[in-house]
Amino acid sequence: MTDLAFTRTEAQRLSEAERDSILADPGFGTRFTDHMVSIVWTRQGGWHDAEVVPYGPIPMDPASSVLHYGQEIFEGLKAYRRPDGSIVAFRPEENARRLNESAKRLALPQLPEELFVEAVHQLVRVDADWVPGGDDQSLYLRPFMIADESFLGVRAAERARFMVIASPAGPYFTGGVRPVSIWLSQTHARAGRGGTGAAKCGGNYAASLAPQNEAAANECQQVLFTDSATEDTIDELGGMNLFLVRSDGTLLTPRLNGNILDGITRKSLIRLAKDRGHAVEERDITVTEWREGAADGTIVEAFACGTAAVITPIRELKAPDFTIDFGDSAPGELTMSLREELTGIQFGTLEDRHGWLDVIVPAGA
Ligand code: PLP
Ligand code: COI
Repeated sequence: MTDLAFTRTEAQRLSEAERDSILADPGFGTRFTDHMVSIVWTRQGGWHDAEVVPYGPIPMDPASSVLHYGQEIFEGLKAYRRPDGSIVAFRPEENARRLNESAKRLALPQLPEELFVEAVHQLVRVDADWVPGGDDQSLYLRPFMIADESFLGVRAAERARFMVIASPAGPYFTGGVRPVSIWLSQTHARAGRGGTGAAKCGGNYAASLAPQNEAAANECQQVLFTDSATEDTIDELGGMNLFLVRSDGTLLTPRLNGNILDGITRKSLIRLAKDRGHAVEERDITVTEWREGAADGTIVEAFACGTAAVITPIRELKAPDFTIDFGDSAPGELTMSLREELTGIQFGTLEDRHGWLDVIVPAGA
């Protein structure tokens, strides 16, 4: 529990018919629920003014630091409707912890973890009707923190705002769970030693957009970044972590090297794979190792993972001078069975044996 009480201003809610038509095919990240959460921080007053208010534009001075120096961080998590009608979030305390790690790197204030979780609960409860119940559908929650002090000097802002918005979501990639093509960025880096690669800050995504355009021009859905020093050691994708599967059932994934996001899906999959007796190697993995392994048949599957992407099979890695192609063998068997297990836990059709689910609205409420 948190000491800070939330006030609520009721929104003019969308009609049931309009909401149902959005929920029938929500896409990803285009429509938003009726309310949002806002909490203000000042250096002098700490966190205050916790509010649930109608979804809409936020007042912002044109000199706000976030607009000039990009002092911003965010999170992404989902709420799921289970067959018994209850609504749960997946490991929200992990997002709360990670937001604070990002906050340290971006010189933003620490937000008490219980306040983060309470903010998520407040929004999901008030907009519970927006949690869709269809296959692979959920309510995507986007907590974020922005520096909104009006000051053009370059220093950590003394005023910030934490917000949570929510968006009904279907699969991130259009076309559902279809294997995707990945473009290997050889001209752009996403992160470097001592940079912000491990933080979930807007600037990392801004830096990924030009290479993402290059990926799209080459008919790929995501871009893969390597370590800028070696140009061979794999970091991660623009918005997802990466796993490879060896023919002996071993999973390979880049270690948390300070440049990549400590993905909650990644850590959950490592746990589930180890529970099944698979070896999981978290270490440096190179594009060269992937190429050689795919050629000699020792690397047989690849997948991307993240909250938005869940687990998305990879059918090929394309570069200007070569392609690694899993073609007809994608999606891989282990990829899909891990996907089924993780989504089964999230959607309440499999037992939550690790206590990962946080019940926000109980069954029958
Ligand atoms: N890596 C990046 C750059 C991401 O944006 C994301 C998505 O949040 C991930 C990895 C996966 O993290 P998570 O599984 O916590 O969503
Ligand atoms: C998420 O998975 O939550 C992200 O932030 C990634 C982005 C591609 C939507």
